[in-house]
Amino acid sequence: MDSRKPTYLDYAAATPVDGRVLEAMRPYFADNFYNPSATYLAAKEISKDLTEARSKVAHRLGARPGEIIFTAGGTEGNNLAIQGIMRQHHDGNIVVSAVEHESILAPAKLFDYRVAPVDKSGSVDLKKLAELIDDKTVLVSIMYANNEVGTILPIREISQIIHAKRAERVASHESRVTKSALAYPIYFHTDACQAANYLDLHASRLGVDLMTLNGGKIYGPKQSGVLFVKTGVELRPIILGGGQERNLRSGTENVAGAIGFASALELAQIMRQEESRRLTEIQSYFIGQLKSNFPDTIINGSLKKRLPNNLHVTFPGIDNERLLMQLDEAGILSAAGSACSASDEEPSHVLRAMGVSDTDAQSSLRFTTGRSSTLTDIDTVVNVLSHHITKK
Ligand SMILES: Cc1ncc(COP(=O)(O)O)c(C=O)c1O
Repeated sequence: MDSRKPTYLDYAAATPVDGRVLEAMRPYFADNFYNPSATYLAAKEISKDLTEARSKVAHRLGARPGEIIFTAGGTEGNNLAIQGIMRQHHDGNIVVSAVEHESILAPAKLFDYRVAPVDKSGSVDLKKLAELIDDKTVLVSIMYANNEVGTILPIREISQIIHAKRAERVASHESRVTKSALAYPIYFHTDACQAANYLDLHASRLGVDLMTLNGGKIYGPKQSGVLFVKTGVELRPIILGGGQERNLRSGTENVAGAIGFASALELAQIMRQEESRRLTEIQSYFIGQLKSNFPDTIINGSLKKRLPNNLHVTFPGIDNERLLMQLDEAGILSAAGSACSASDEEPSHVLRAMGVSDTDAQSSLRFTTGRSSTLTDIDTVVNVLSHHITKK
């Protein structure tokens, strides 16, 4: 294996743990290993540290500590949100977008689910979304930013639609048009796993009732994360047992993970504006280089409403698996299709929903930058690409 440091361009799949996060976590693996539920003083100290981590997370989301449930990552948070709500309303329905992560789509399919289409930029069609919501819609789950193409979805506008639907239900109940209208609550959940490094996470500004975050994308530990659940939202646990996390997520707390997540989230939110500015510059440079060196490349996803670290590119006529390997051999680590699912033979459901042909999907790569990325990384990748892509 080449001993040179690889050029890592797959930050949407995984981020390295920040040194400061690692230091914050370290004591909880050894000296401070006690179970926070134990009764002795030393354990109570750990419980206090966990409480502090919860408050820190709550503060960053503009939430109350009681609204934060620590989970083992994004998949669990999404499952808890969907199953935790929907299992209480078996005859209710759920509306999701066509570009959601599998950890939303798979649990949604257990219930009566509707899929809101997206336009070719990957953003949800708000009119169609509104039409799909009826009197039995209990949950709408729309991601904050897409993990494949980086499109940022209009969470505030969606929240307003749901707000209006809620008000309509109340009005129709009062006028007795629909007696059962108030039998179903309507909640808004967002999967914000890809958003936390760059976007505002203030829950009430966004107007969300539930929000999923994970540590593995924000320079924190994998298998850590939270589900924000607004006060008043009734949730049923999906993991039963000892009753930890207000009985919503049983199991001895991953104290190091929670401390690490809180520290990572704090850093990510402090750094987000400066990092967004820096990575936007790199992104613009990358787009310019691609356009001038390979004029027939297509950038997928929105150019305006886009995460600053994502570039999803179609190189027409190129086999992406082969190109991925060629890049890997040259020390460049990137992704084809979704890197968040472990095995993906099928062309991406996200690209399909955006109207990208399967042929173009199989000629597409995702490059995602992060804290260590520089313009030199872009020069390196463009140089290697020029060996494998013939200029037209
Ligand atoms: C948007 C999104 N949601 C959910 C997940 C799943 O999170 P985790 O791997 O922490 O379970 C990922 C990535 O893996 C993601 O990108």
